[in-house]
Parts: sequence; C-alpha cells; structure tokens
Amino acid sequence: MREFVKGDFRAIYAYSSDARVTRYLFFGPRDEDSTADYLEGLLASQRERPRTRFELAVEEIESGRVIGACDLSFIEGNVVDLGYMLGIESWGKGYATEIALALVDAAFFDLRADRVISTVDVNNGASIRVLEKIGMRWEAVFRKHRRAKNCWWDCHLFILPREVWESSRVNYAP
Ligand SMILES: CC(C)(COP(=O)(O)OP(=O)(O)OC[C@H]1O[C@@H](n2cnc3c(N)ncnc32)[C@H](O)[C@@H]1OP(=O)(O)O)[C@@H](O)C(=O)NCCC(=O)NCCS
Repeated sequence: MREFVKGDFRAIYAYSSDARVTRYLFFGPRDEDSTADYLEGLLASQRERPRTRFELAVEEIESGRVIGACDLSFIEGNVVDLGYMLGIESWGKGYATEIALALVDAAFFDLRADRVISTVDVNNGASIRVLEKIGMRWEAVFRKHRRAKNCWWDCHLFILPREVWESSRVNYAP
C-alpha cells in the first residue's frame, strides 16, 4: 500500500469504471472526468494538516500494478472508518483480508484510533466476510442508511474497539 500519485490515473479508471466493482459502493461507475476529480481530491487530501483521510493505492508486488484502493478516514474524534476496493481480476486471492488487517494495525498503532468502523451494504457478501475474518464485530443494521444511485441502501455497521484488537491480536490466526 502506498500513496497515490498523478500517474495512477489509468489504473484508477480501470477498476472504478467497472460496474461490477462499484455495485455496492455509493458512487460510480466513474467516467474519466469523475476519476480526474476524485484523484485531484485525494492528492489534495495528502497535503492536509492534520490529515484526516488516508486513501492509498494497492500495488501488487508480483506485477507492480495498481490493482485497487483502500482507505482509513477519521469520521469523528478518534473513530476511523476503513474501506477497500479491488479490480475484479484480483478478487478471491485473499488480498482484501491482507489489506484490511494491515489497515486495522495502522489505525490502532499509527493513528491511535479508539475504534475502527466499517459500513457495508447488506448484500455485499464478500466484504462482510472480509470484515468477519479480520475480527470486526457486527454492531447494527441501518435500514435506509443512505440514498445513492436512486435507491435506499441498507447497511451493516461493523466495529472493532481498541481493547478488543489489543487482546485478540496476539492470538489471531488467519
Ligand atoms: C470486497 C472485496 C474487496 C473482497 O476482496 P477479495 O480480495 O476478493 O477478498 P478476500 O479474498 O480477502 O476474501 C473474500 C472472502 O469472501 C468470500 N466471498 C466471496 N464472495 C462472497 C459472497 N458473494 N458471499 C459471501 N462470501 C463471499 C470468499 O470466499 C472469501 O472468504 P473465505 O476466505 O472464507 O473463503 C472485493 O470483492 C471488491 O473489491 N469488491 C468491490 C468493492 C467493494 O464492494 N468494496 C467494499 C465496500 S464495503
């Protein structure tokens, strides 16, 4: 995982213009203009102080290709929201689980978060599974959590309090 740079435009456009990838995301699929706006916004967020949004490129070590994005964002106080998305050719290899585990560690170690949360569409089985695998706990379901793409979205809220992460981390076995 590394910072995005301007030259990542094509790679971002490749996965975020794919309707299969953005199916359970509130935005997209992106066209070239909205990809450019998004990239400009995230590059600007890298310069913010204090920085509240850490949106990172996911680079596959073997190929050196940018295959997706992940993020940690402060939403209030010391609560950090976690997210990830990958191009479809990279699904099913355990990457999101590896990414999410690293993000959780970064949120608690580096950002000193008290709590990590994630909201996920109730039909997004793969993402729900990832959150379960990394030890996040189901907390609630929000009916009509948000209106996007002309419909209401029902979402699960998953959370991981700092104390639980601290006590479970030593014993974690994927
Ligand atoms: C969600 C996403 C990141 C998962 O990436 P991934 O690298 O394939 O995830 P992993 O391989 O680490 O783990 C996926 C798990 O979900 C399971 N799974 C896959 N599809 C599933 C489904 N429809 N229902 C239930 N479980 C499913 C897999 O079997 C695997 O679990 P297992 O290891 O117990 O077998 C990827 O599908 C994606 O980018 N989706 C589009 C963007 C998105 O929805 N992001 C999340 C927003 S909250």
